[in-house]
Amino acid sequence: MAASVMKITQLVRRLKQREFFSSSSRQKLLRGIEGFANLPNEQLRDVEVIANLIRGIGLRYDARGLYGEEARYMNATTDGLWQLPLQLANALVVLADQEIKTFLEVGTHSGFTGAVITAYLHRLQPGLQALTIDPFPSFRNYELVRQKLPLEYRRCTTSDLMGETFDCVLIDGDHSYEAVKRDYEIVGRTARVCLFHDIDDDLSGHDNVPRFWRELVSGGDFDQTYEFTQSPPGKRVMGIGVGVRHAA
Ligand SMILES: C[S@@+](CC[C@H](N)C(=O)[O-])C[C@H]1O[C@@H](n2cnc3c(N)ncnc32)[C@H](O)[C@@H]1O
Repeated sequence: MAASVMKITQLVRRLKQREFFSSSSRQKLLRGIEGFANLPNEQLRDVEVIANLIRGIGLRYDARGLYGEEARYMNATTDGLWQLPLQLANALVVLADQEIKTFLEVGTHSGFTGAVITAYLHRLQPGLQALTIDPFPSFRNYELVRQKLPLEYRRCTTSDLMGETFDCVLIDGDHSYEAVKRDYEIVGRTARVCLFHDIDDDLSGHDNVPRFWRELVSGGDFDQTYEFTQSPPGKRVMGIGVGVRHAA
């Protein structure tokens, strides 16, 4: 009897802790969205300012040591951006010059990265429409975020988006070679700007995204490409590849 009371007490404490941490990351996300909305014109392309906004929102908990010094901005839960702030900030600055009216994120997870990209693009383009997709539900803050941003969330895969086109796409869903290729064929090939996350993924132990990205670059699929691969010392993690097609 005493043992079950103890177990229940521990469970209640853990639930309260989880709610405390979730509510604090929710608050940071809302403050960050506000920060993007209020970015002055002269700071729109300032990588450090943008990276600091991302740090303030917080990174998803990950115990593999992939954040290096940035780990101090890691949240205690799976809520947060699964990104290195400098990589994402640099990629966003490239997007600033692309006139993006529609954006798709493949692989929502907690929804923090989708919300940040949407907040930034929305600051640049008030008519923006954004969509994030994931077959597995983890976007706990969706109801709150959709009140602040033009971001829709659907539980689906790119196979459900056949024929839909987007100015800009971030591919960060299923990381198998075949899935990345399929996502690219369905929504990436028709996008003017296509971003790939994990082009430098030496933590995963496979070469799927890096290989596919190298093939696109060497095959001349884009008019211009950028790679943002700033990693902690001695590591090559995550990495964002951005491919841009100039308007015909
Ligand atoms: C690495 S996480 C995405 C992280 C997120 N973009 C971020 O930056 O925080 C990968 C996500 O892809 C989702 N996923 C798996 N298969 C997928 C598919 N076929 N289409 C879209 N998302 C998929 C997983 O459920 C997971 O949430």
